[in-house]
Amino acid sequence: MIPFLAYSQGTPKEATINVLVPESPTRTTLTIDGQATKLTGSKRVFVTPPIEPGKTYAYKISVVIEPNNYTKIFRTREVTFKAGDEVTVDMTKEDKEKDKIEVRWVPTPDDIVDEMCKLAKVTKDDVVYDFGCGDCVMLVRAIKQFGAKKGVGLEIDEKIIKEKAEPYIKKAGLQDKIEVRKGDILDVKEKDCADATVVLLYIGDDLGARLGPVLQKALKPGSRVVSHRFTLGDWKPNKTIKVMGVDGDEYTLHLWIVPEKK
Ligand SMILES: C[S@@+](CC[C@H](N)C(=O)[O-])C[C@H]1O[C@@H](n2cnc3c(N)ncnc32)[C@H](O)[C@@H]1O
Repeated sequence: MIPFLAYSQGTPKEATINVLVPESPTRTTLTIDGQATKLTGSKRVFVTPPIEPGKTYAYKISVVIEPNNYTKIFRTREVTFKAGDEVTVDMTKEDKEKDKIEVRWVPTPDDIVDEMCKLAKVTKDDVVYDFGCGDCVMLVRAIKQFGAKKGVGLEIDEKIIKEKAEPYIKKAGLQDKIEVRKGDILDVKEKDCADATVVLLYIGDDLGARLGPVLQKALKPGSRVVSHRFTLGDWKPNKTIKVMGVDGDEYTLHLWIVPEKK
């Protein structure tokens, strides 16, 4: 009995952390307490080094989930445990601690932007927003080709703003008509886009599902949202069309028209 007590109270012992991550074909990389792991599979078992009995330890568990080759979802949790514990952390779903989501920059071809503007029926009375604006091609063409009166772009990547958007807007001579804001789509509030009458998007389904409810509340009735390829969560589009690009590829475009508020 005595040796057992001595062992259980005094000898350092491992803890086991089971991390559940989204299933394949999603690619997920797991970092535990700042250390990248090479663990694979939907249940990843991490054994800590021997730790002091009786003390509570906290580790930060981070995953980067890549549901496709253009989206990264960053999810973080904290797990607490003691020596000898086996704990399970479910990282398969978003929790109180909100996900961060980023999609990579892939520009929409000029002719497809024009098809989007036609679908949105952009006119000189419109204020056009692009959340995730990249080089601002959507805003530049909405103003140059369709006469929109103002463009507002939101972009998370400072380098893209400086190296792509600003030179492109300058070349088009539209510095006085386009405002580019640095920020995260996930932080957009209703007041941030209350003056938008048209929203053009190319942001992936994951960001779209988060932005959709904000737009539904923020935009005035009659405002139009057009998305290149991707959807806006549960908000069903009024119209979906397929257009042929000059590059010979087929593009899917969705249109939502904000209804009268009930
Ligand atoms: C697919 S590109 C589309 C660019 C442009 N709208 C177009 O169609 O040509 C998506 C853009 O959104 C930006 N972006 C990605 N995640 C974002 C986020 N969470 N908040 C704001 N911008 C984001 C990327 O840096 C990229 O420039």
